[in-house]
Amino acid sequence: MDWGMRNRIARFIKPETGRTVMLAVDHGYFLGPTSGLENARETIAPLLPYTDSLMCTRGVLRTSVDPKTPTPVVLRVSGGPSVLKELSNEEITTSMEDALRLNVCGVGMSIFVGAEFEKQTLTNLGKLVSEGEKIGMPVLAITAVGKEMGRDLRFLGLACRIAAEYGAHCVKTYYCEGFDQLVASCPVPVVIAGGKKTPEKEALELAANAVNEGAAGVDMGRNIWQSEWPVAMIQAIRAVVHEKKSVKEAWDLFESLRKATKGKKVKGVAATPDF
Ligand code: R5P
Repeated sequence: MDWGMRNRIARFIKPETGRTVMLAVDHGYFLGPTSGLENARETIAPLLPYTDSLMCTRGVLRTSVDPKTPTPVVLRVSGGPSVLKELSNEEITTSMEDALRLNVCGVGMSIFVGAEFEKQTLTNLGKLVSEGEKIGMPVLAITAVGKEMGRDLRFLGLACRIAAEYGAHCVKTYYCEGFDQLVASCPVPVVIAGGKKTPEKEALELAANAVNEGAAGVDMGRNIWQSEWPVAMIQAIRAVVHEKKSVKEAWDLFESLRKATKGKKVKGVAATPDF
């Protein structure tokens, strides 16, 4: 692996801990104005100081993120269908040239193993990795789950291993029972998505279980910015991921930060389908 590739990876997986807290705000590329992300700039700005890397599309990056930020970015480069259509029918929608121009530390795309357009998304991944290798740009493969698919070890383990075999440098998936086995059979770092909003304590437990079972961290969205106290929540998640705090310690931190800050009003005008 060349120096540029290793340097970019070190910008989002912190070498001090070997872990990462990525903030996922890429939901709008197929969901539109998701609850909590209606005004991306307002949501992102207070969270950036606590974020190891921001995961977003180029549209949100250009319009809603201050270019003076020191926080690195992993750019979502796949898309195609909206939530109204067959989600697996994705293509690469943002060029590697644009990723370079935007000075990002990685690109991310979804694969849909087991879905109608499985082959297309896997060949997308292979081609993206080949392009990334030429310029030292790491690729994060995201194991998307269709509504009809289980989020179990058999399925997620299959998808993660396939992503690594195609050359992904990092994989994002969901936590599942037997997660340590998934990590053991995936030769690249694995981060977890948070999934649908749950009570804050449950999200902290999810993050703790994942890192204790070998995850390199989280790429979390809704469980942070759909919280009434997103800034407190991301700091509590950091305590679990980087400082190896227990769920109780992180919950106590969350509570003390929460009490010291004003909650934000969660508007909840847009639908967030189950994914
Ligand atoms: C889908 O749009 C993306 O892959 C999200 O970045 C991913 O699902 C993580 O976000 P959340 O924690 O809200 O599931």
